[in-house]
Amino acid sequence: MMEKKLKKISKKVNFFLNSYLSKSNSSELIAPMKYGLFPGGKKIRSKIIYDVGKIFKVKHKDLLIIAASVEAIHAYSLIHDDLPCMDDDSLRRGKLSTHIKFGESTAILAGNSLLTTAFEILSDRNFKLDEKNKSRLINFLSRCSGQIGIAGGQYLDLTYERKKVSLQKILNMELKKTGKLFEFCCVAPLIIKNNNKDLNTFSKLGKDIGLLFQIVDDLIDFKGKTKFAGKKTNKDAKKGKATIISLLGYENAVKYANKLKQNIFNKLKPYSSNANELIKTINFIMYRKK
Ligand code: IPE
Ligand code: IPE
Ligand code: MG
Ligand code: MG
Ligand code: MG
Repeated sequence: MMEKKLKKISKKVNFFLNSYLSKSNSSELIAPMKYGLFPGGKKIRSKIIYDVGKIFKVKHKDLLIIAASVEAIHAYSLIHDDLPCMDDDSLRRGKLSTHIKFGESTAILAGNSLLTTAFEILSDRNFKLDEKNKSRLINFLSRCSGQIGIAGGQYLDLTYERKKVSLQKILNMELKKTGKLFEFCCVAPLIIKNNNKDLNTFSKLGKDIGLLFQIVDDLIDFKGKTKFAGKKTNKDAKKGKATIISLLGYENAVKYANKLKQNIFNKLKPYSSNANELIKTINFIMYRKK
């Protein structure tokens, strides 16, 4: 079962991150950083890294390090996403948001520190990888996180509030704020393997999976239950967020997601049964309730 597999990955990634943070010279920021990281999170991004790694036979040890760096960036993005100046949310992963628990300035600094932790992990000399590939990974992940990635997408998300925005613009915003990190998850295993042949396919796949992930997140906000989701639902409409639902309506958003999923599956056909696990994860993304 998917839940079991996610739990197994979650345990490994959390153990790695916890040991990593515990061995560095500690500061007062470690507590809010760990609060933002643990226990929560479905670890979908990590699962995708393992799924693509399986297709291309990448060593688990390498995948774990990539997954830990991605989850650190993801946790940072959630801490900042919940801040009063952003989405102003007080509940995350079934508990109080980091800024409610520790105060705003501490949450900002813990978020910043998690962002840099990701690059610390990747550039660590204990990560035994060809130096060229390592710097390619670091370069790729930086671009997925900054102004053409998460930060740029979050900027658009906030400036589009209460505005009529075209489908093209909404897709571009979702691609940046969510799709780019998923793109990294799909491409990183190929970079490790020096595989340039499948790079374009998996870069496009990653962006599509990320887009699908965000559309379903928006569907959960629209119809889901706070108790299941572990975060306040029914907030996007109140905030006037520009989403595919606000533009096309709920039913059409579901149709859009289904088409996108079929598209992704078509692109995976050449990989036959090697892609079975990835296909299961994509179905999980589509039908999840949190
Ligand atoms: C939530 O991501 C934020 C989005 C990009 C939509 P997740 O749904 O993966 O959050 P966790 O890690 O499981 O809490
Ligand atoms: C968040 O999108 C995207 C990020 C990059 C953090 P949302 O604002 O919809 O995420 P939730 O619903 O608060 O988790
Ligand atoms: Mg947001
Ligand atoms: Mg939010
Ligand atoms: Mg949301």
